[in-house]
Amino acid sequence: METKRIYLDYTATTPLDPRVLEAMLPYFNSTFGNASSIHSFGREAKAALEGSREKIAGFIGARPSEIVFTSGGTESDNAALFGAASAGSDRRRKQVVVSSIEHHAVLHTAAALQELGFDATFVPVDRRGFVDPEEVRRAVRDDTLIVSIIHANNEIGTIQNLPVIAAIVHEKGALFHTDAVQSFGKIPFSVAGSGVDLASFSAHKIYGPKGIGALFIKRGIEIGPTFHGGSQERNRRPGTESIPLIAGFARAAEIAVEEMEIEARRLTGLNKMMRKNLLKNVQGVIFNSPDQDALPNILNASIDSSKVEIDGEALIISLDLEGIAVTSGSACSSGSLQPSHVIKALGRDDATTKATVRFSFGRFTTEEDIVKASEIFGKIVARTGKVPG
Ligand SMILES: Cc1ncc(COP(=O)(O)O)c(C=O)c1O
Repeated sequence: METKRIYLDYTATTPLDPRVLEAMLPYFNSTFGNASSIHSFGREAKAALEGSREKIAGFIGARPSEIVFTSGGTESDNAALFGAASAGSDRRRKQVVVSSIEHHAVLHTAAALQELGFDATFVPVDRRGFVDPEEVRRAVRDDTLIVSIIHANNEIGTIQNLPVIAAIVHEKGALFHTDAVQSFGKIPFSVAGSGVDLASFSAHKIYGPKGIGALFIKRGIEIGPTFHGGSQERNRRPGTESIPLIAGFARAAEIAVEEMEIEARRLTGLNKMMRKNLLKNVQGVIFNSPDQDALPNILNASIDSSKVEIDGEALIISLDLEGIAVTSGSACSSGSLQPSHVIKALGRDDATTKATVRFSFGRFTTEEDIVKASEIFGKIVARTGKVPG
């Protein structure tokens, strides 16, 4: 008999909600026009495009003209940082400031800018994974171009204090960007409330399709283009817009926002249950996700190397063999054997960092899944772990 697989990796990606698929289907065939065409087919596509843009803008308190559709979170992050660098409104601004727990889409973009002659400063986090706004104050300078601080971290779920950081950044006249890929649709987010000039979003984290996202660009902010081509997206992102993906993104956002409160409560319950069960079942378990000011759908745990020695990679593989799909860090780094830069930034030793499992829950996770996953995790640690000394 095949083991029932339990998916606890919703932070990596989510399945498409059937309601989202339904919203997308007409745009693959019956309403297939190019939104730039002036005939009726084009106008229909354009109406769907602009309707979707209005919806997404509305959910974050933005104007529709401030939303640019992109291919996802990675492109939005790149477009924000590179776009700020290439805008050229103030060539004296040469410093980029990011937190040490950014997603690689920001971290590696900052490193790429460094190669181009910009100064990159990486702001540390405390042992719980929070950016102290005073650290940002110490980092920013008169020549800071842009500061990028992730809203909710994709590995441990910590939610940063954006409005306070925004005020500090703006005192220096720099731009403020946030990667809101993980927080959007899960916790309240508004562009005015967070004080950002730029914000990145992605559909596939909220039961929407892969390959579509958005960048919020506050009115008046000058951003250079990442791509060159046609005049789509008000000259800010050329290329024929993918109406099926955009319509799916808008529908996914609509459902996420509608169900946010109830779902957050349910996920918080599952998260607490998982914590309790892990503490009961798993020897040496410690948590990297704080129990407050963090996303309700992420619980990141490690096996403390001073209590139990265990091979982190073998742990993930054993969990997978037993039908539990989790990851040790971000999806991008899980294939590369690199210990998570986020867990390291919390001050964990290398062995503990490697013995890390990120559980992330979602719309289709049940209490039964939680009980089963924690029992299997406990069994594997008992079987393969070694008490040091
Ligand atoms: C915080 C964060 N930013 C950016 C991305 C990249 O988004 P996308 O997969 O849409 O390119 C991800 C996805 O893993 C993420 O979690």
